[in-house]
Amino acid sequence: MQGNEGMTDFHTHVLPGMDDGSRSAGESAEMLGMLRAQGVTRLIASPHYYRQRETIPEFTERRGHSAEKLAGEAGAAPPPCMVLGAEAAFFADMSKEPGLRRLCIGGTDMLLLEMPFAPWPAAVVNEVYQIVSSRGITPVIAHVERYMEHKRNLEALDRLISFGVVIQSNAEFFLERGTRRRAFGMLAAGRIHVFGSDCHDTHDRPPNMGALAALLKKKLPPGRLEALQAAEDGLFAGQG
Ligand SMILES: [Fe+2]
Repeated sequence: MQGNEGMTDFHTHVLPGMDDGSRSAGESAEMLGMLRAQGVTRLIASPHYYRQRETIPEFTERRGHSAEKLAGEAGAAPPPCMVLGAEAAFFADMSKEPGLRRLCIGGTDMLLLEMPFAPWPAAVVNEVYQIVSSRGITPVIAHVERYMEHKRNLEALDRLISFGVVIQSNAEFFLERGTRRRAFGMLAAGRIHVFGSDCHDTHDRPPNMGALAALLKKKLPPGRLEALQAAEDGLFAGQG
């Protein structure tokens, strides 16, 4: 361990055979081991869900088989605790989808939501509001940094935050020197709440939460990382 125990990785592609994630259950088990060594105690397995490709029951059935395969491979390996979720791509009338709650992070009301990679019109922002207000589901916006090239989205993001939406950024946003200043600026402004590795494999896009925790510990005032971890725990407290 690197003294970073307690991190939650909100965004991973550790399930074998799902989306563009790992190539085998063996590689997935290796990824779990890497996350464990980096101090991650809880991770969300969040394979992509695309409405146009399959129904929610088809997706959850596939995901269940994949998780069983991984459990078989990982055997009695110690935690991190893996919670099943999805990286659900936004679609029109999403708030009216009867099965939407089945995509939530297991045992919680949180839904990892991949927003459109384009300027967000009012209709999109309103749809997210409906997910919160009419369904009682809390969207967690996946890899926020990927939408910010569109100026309009920063203002929209603040509206989403005012609805109670949770914002996730990838570790990479902080670790890349070219974007680090912006990442810390967004964190200080309350525009980033939780983190994820968005890891896909052991080499090209590997787990990097340990490096993130070390950087946050170095750059933030004393106690701030622990406060962020406590806030992550708070999102899970009382749920399930
Ligand atoms: Fe992802």
